Amino acid sequence: MHLNSDVVRSHVDIENGVAGRIIFVDEDIYKHELESIFAHTWLFLGHEDQIPNPDDYYVTRMGEEQVILTRDRQGEIHALLNSCTHRGMKLCRYDEGNTSLFTCPYHAWSFSTDGSLVSRPGDLFGVPGYKTRYFEELDKSKWGLIAVPRIANFHGTIWGNWDPEAPSFEEYLGGMGQWLRFALESRDGRPGQGTVLAGIQKWRVKCNWKFAPTNFSGDFAHAVSHRSVDMVNIGPSGVGRRDDKFDGASVFGWPDLGHGGTGWAGALEEDYVQPKSFQRFPEVAEWFDKCRAERRQRLRDTFHFQGKGTIFPNMSFHEEQPRTIIVAHPNGPGETEFWRYYLVDRDAPDHVKDTLRRYFMSYSGPAGLTEQDDLENWAAATEASNGTISRQYPYNYQQGLGHSVPYPDVPGCVWAGQPFSEQNQVIFLKRWAEFMEGRNWDQLMHRVEIPGDVEFPLAKSQTSGEESA
Ligand code: FES
Ligand code: FE
Repeated sequence: MHLNSDVVRSHVDIENGVAGRIIFVDEDIYKHELESIFAHTWLFLGHEDQIPNPDDYYVTRMGEEQVILTRDRQGEIHALLNSCTHRGMKLCRYDEGNTSLFTCPYHAWSFSTDGSLVSRPGDLFGVPGYKTRYFEELDKSKWGLIAVPRIANFHGTIWGNWDPEAPSFEEYLGGMGQWLRFALESRDGRPGQGTVLAGIQKWRVKCNWKFAPTNFSGDFAHAVSHRSVDMVNIGPSGVGRRDDKFDGASVFGWPDLGHGGTGWAGALEEDYVQPKSFQRFPEVAEWFDKCRAERRQRLRDTFHFQGKGTIFPNMSFHEEQPRTIIVAHPNGPGETEFWRYYLVDRDAPDHVKDTLRRYFMSYSGPAGLTEQDDLENWAAATEASNGTISRQYPYNYQQGLGHSVPYPDVPGCVWAGQPFSEQNQVIFLKRWAEFMEGRNWDQLMHRVEIPGDVEFPLAKSQTSGEESA
């Protein structure tokens, strides 16, 4: 079930950069989001290192629903709906672990880590009473756990999609994949060395889920919210912040795909993380210096993105400050469950991992000083937008709109030329509207090949040859 496109367009006006508050508070619209967005888009499930061994599992989420990420005995990864096929019972009630069998607490149907309904000698597990009560007539091959049909592994991160017709994850990511890849590779530029620290932080906030991805896709303008942490110097050494350098930073977005971020792009000449960040931890600074030198050597001529961004719809990542992934799981229109994963290099020395872990959690997560500022904004904005009167008025996303230009040599990418712009929030809402009105994948993946054809409010000088005002 999708929303009528006239209704969607009455809520989201891309050309003029406004969106009705109703899409952030309304229960019916929220239910449509679960069906039209979360059942069709690629969603972040976790990291392969969370399930390194056969029969390991990790319970994660897709939209409101739990899925169990497993590694079967052949080493293959599955994502299985955490709901027993007999009568729907929540099968697994732990967050993670290792088991050869998931046995349902209700009537003891049992499933292996590849999702199949099993038989066990003695009739106690598998399907109890398979011989005596089901007379061996139950077709067990038809009653395995409900599996997510599409799974992708992107540089160690695992993604799932309920829609069998969806394009590949790489196509879905487009040019943004290059950016995400840099967040996942090792600090010295080797591919595939990023991993997650054990222990995922999870907490709930009374805000609409869309506040987080639209914040992390590019909102440098809310620096005023973080004034207190700026004053106390939130950097790891108690000096500044690791992201307070704006020189050359810009907004980059993919209007045809909904993804975007803020940061730096180009040949890797400089790391924007200030050398003094870890001055109180010389051994950590030394490790970063060594990595930086090796990365420059390794990726000298490579086109490079560095910064933070959002993969539509609800996964955001920070490449450096701190290096994390945050997923905004929807819990109704007025509540979000956030999951933060912290990234480190797999082979970094333990003292480096430990210092980073402490720094990450002082900055991000429910006790993180900076994260708390953002959470307070999003919760208070949701509350103040949900009144009889307030919900009738729109939000404004007009900052810098109409002043984006195609980014050279990156098809489909637009660029604001400076870090202050609401271009990417509009890009997110444009994609939101396309899914909500039920476009098919042919329409959704109509790819922009020529930068000048980017379907987005660009600067007049780019679209009509006129000088922009
Ligand atoms: Fe799981 Fe009955 S609901 S065995
Ligand atoms: Fe912030």
